[in-house]
Order: sequence, then structure tokens, then C-alpha cells
Amino acid sequence: MRQDLISNLARTAPALRLLSAPADLEHYGRDWTRRWTPAPLAIALPATIDEVQAIARWASEYNVALVPSGGRTGLSGGAVAANSELVVSFERMNRMLDFNAVDRTLTVQPGIALEAVHKAAQEHGLIYPVDFGARGSCSIGGNIATNAGGIRVIRYGNTREWIAGLKLVTAKGDLLELNRGLIKNSSGYDLRHLVIGAEGTLGFVVEATLRLTDPPPSSQVMLFAVPAMAALMRVFDACRSRLTLSAFEFFTDRALHHVLAHGAQKPFAETSPYYVVTEFDAADQVQQQAALDVFEQCLKAGWVSDGVMSQSDAQAAALWRLRDGITESLAAHRPYKNDVSVRVSTVPEFLGEMQALLSREYPQFDVVWFGHIGDGNLHINVLKPVELGDADFLAQCERVTKLLADVLATHGGSISAEHGIGLVKKAYLASTRGAAEITLMRSLRAVFDPQGLMNPGKLFD
Ligand code: LAC
Ligand code: ZN
Repeated sequence: MRQDLISNLARTAPALRLLSAPADLEHYGRDWTRRWTPAPLAIALPATIDEVQAIARWASEYNVALVPSGGRTGLSGGAVAANSELVVSFERMNRMLDFNAVDRTLTVQPGIALEAVHKAAQEHGLIYPVDFGARGSCSIGGNIATNAGGIRVIRYGNTREWIAGLKLVTAKGDLLELNRGLIKNSSGYDLRHLVIGAEGTLGFVVEATLRLTDPPPSSQVMLFAVPAMAALMRVFDACRSRLTLSAFEFFTDRALHHVLAHGAQKPFAETSPYYVVTEFDAADQVQQQAALDVFEQCLKAGWVSDGVMSQSDAQAAALWRLRDGITESLAAHRPYKNDVSVRVSTVPEFLGEMQALLSREYPQFDVVWFGHIGDGNLHINVLKPVELGDADFLAQCERVTKLLADVLATHGGSISAEHGIGLVKKAYLASTRGAAEITLMRSLRAVFDPQGLMNPGKLFD
């Protein structure tokens, strides 16, 4: 049966590259979550939009589930194939197609890595400002699927802000051109925005036109040691009122511990419970002086106990590494991840409640906090104690996530700020979205994909 299906697909699209060796099934069937055992039917690596359409038509005829696949750096299981799905990897559709200097857009295939987009923009004296640690291996298609955020959201917003147009192959194999790079287009529903963040449930993004912008003035990076959680948002207020920020991130001593164990340089002699990394425009002496003034002000108020400001790009990179390297340094521990958000105004109250909840519920666990606190987005990573079995650990974490979801619901927050719902968070979707809203989301999905073949089981069942 399995072999028949694959042979049939090979006949339908004779040039389509297909893989089915066990090592390939394992490699392409999982993402960074590592919780599910990969078990795809096979892997297709289309090279053209025509081939993607042929795959969709074949899948529709034979009722085969499809999993769109980019860099598979996702943290919510959105790209996992554990149920005989055909993985459709965009690895070979990874080219730059067009740069338009007047429109300031870059048109790319979905498999291109984020970092390659950064470089291309830079070659034209512009930037694509969405950025985060997985830049070297994640793909634009995956960024679009989760409306990826990252470390510059505070200034530039999420991926959504930077998508001027999309081409989408639907589950039926139709090709849609959504928005075509227009700035102004008031002509009905903007399906482009429905597709962004849909986690591959509405079709395959097969091409994207990205907006680029001017690079910011030259910047500096400051790292602060912060003695108390309650001081974090005071430091944020002080920085934001005097400086033009392009990032404001925090992490805890536990996060620092893991990054240092992974080879980063210790920033201060004394340890501190919290740290902040902030980047800001520092093109002239006035701006540089403002940063020093902010530091003085925070020091005097007792909100920070130490600080360091980058004097070179290398120093800036070393300070960033302390934040950027956290996810990678934790990966070997296969942490249980929460990625939550509340409105920025609610952060101080929420942090207090979370701290109480987590220290009550996870007394013996290594709980690592970090994230984009200036956007109201926290990452909470729980590491498994060695003596605890996988299933018991997961059960504990799921129990606490339920409590966390309840706290989030009281604040109108979100159970997934930027990683997506995927398989990992779908049990908690109802804490973030109302029942009527979820019903509408399901109905929309059924209109796009009546057979339910596009990334089934992700987002909702
Ligand atoms: C980060 C990723 C995990 O912020 O979202 O490092
Ligand atoms: Zn993040």
C-alpha cells in the first residue's frame, strides 16, 4: 500500500525527488521538540511550484496527509510527521527570486534560511529585521507558518509586518497569489494574514515577497545585572523613555548558568538573579551619554547592581551570545517549553504570579526563564531531573501548564506568543481563544482544506 502510493506519486510527478530511507524518515519527520517518534510515509523535495501542486492533487486523490517542512527548528511540534504523512520539504526551493529596489522587496522561495535573507538585504544596503537565534537553520516558510517573532519585535514587529505578498498552494492544488506586494489593497479579506501563523494548515506557502527597510543607526548593547524581578520593568521604563530600543531581553541566573556551561564568557564577577540585554541607537555622543545616564539612574535607584556597555561589535556579539545562546544550550536537556505572553502593562503583576506558581509547583526542578520581556513574552523552560522518567516528567509539566493557562486566561494572555500551537499546545488553545472563535477557525480550515490533509492534528484536532 505504502509502496503503491509512493510509486503513484512518482508517476504523477516524474522529476519529483522522493526519499524513504529510514534515516531520512527520521531526519525529516521531527523538529526540535524531540517528543514524538518520526514515522512519515516518505519525504518529497519539490523543486517547483508545479511539483507542489502535483503533490497536493495526488494527496487529495489518495487522501494522504501532508506536513510542510522548513528548517524544522520549531518548538511546538508543528513540523512533526508521526502518522504516515508525506513530508513536503522546501529544502530545494531555497532561492532568492527577485530584488526590487523601488518597492524595497525581496521575493524568495520558502526554503531559504532567515540568515540568507539577512545577507541578501544587507548586500542591497537594507535590512530584513525579523531576527532570532535559529536564524542560520530556520526557513522563511516556517517563520511565516508561526508568524515568528524574536529579538527585534519591540521595534519592528513580527514576521507578519514584513510579508508583502505570498503564493499559496491550497490542499486542492490551486495556486493563489495573495496581495502581490501591494502596500495598499483594500479589496476584501486579506487571506495573506490568515495564512501567516496558520502553521501550515491552510496550504503550502511556495513563494514570499518580503519587505525590507533602512538599517538602524549604529547601536550599542548594554547588559545589566538586575537584583529583583520587580525591578525588571522599571529598568525597561527607564531605557524606553530615554533610548531608542531595538531589543530588550531578559534571562535568569539559571539561563546564564547553562549558556556559560556551553562556552560563553561570564559577564560579571558577582552573580545576579536576573539580567537584561538591551540594544539601542548610539550613533552620536548624545545617544551614548543618554545610555550612561540611564545606567546611572538605574544604579542609584537600586534597580540594577552592575552593567556593561559594548565598545565594539565583538563585545556586542559576546553580550548577545549570553541571550541568543540560551535555547541551544538547553537543547540537550530536551526542556519542556512554555512560551507565553501578556500585555506589557500586565507583565509586573503576571511575573509575580508566575513566580509563585512555578516555585510552588516545580520545587525540585531546574526552571529556566528568559525572553522578550519588552514585548510581554516569556519563555519558561523546565528541565527534567535525571531520576524522573520521561512520562512522569511530561505529566507534571502538563499539569502545571494547565494552571499556567488559567493564570494567563485571567490576564487575557496567550499560551503561545511566537512558537505556535502545533502538537504541544493544542490542549490549551481554549485558554487563549474563545469557543466561538475556535469554531470559526475550524470552519475556515475546512473551507481551505475539506479533507483535512494539511498538517492534520496541528493547532487543533
Ligand atoms: C528564543 C526562542 C526560543 O527566544 O524563541 O530564544
Ligand atoms: Zn523567543
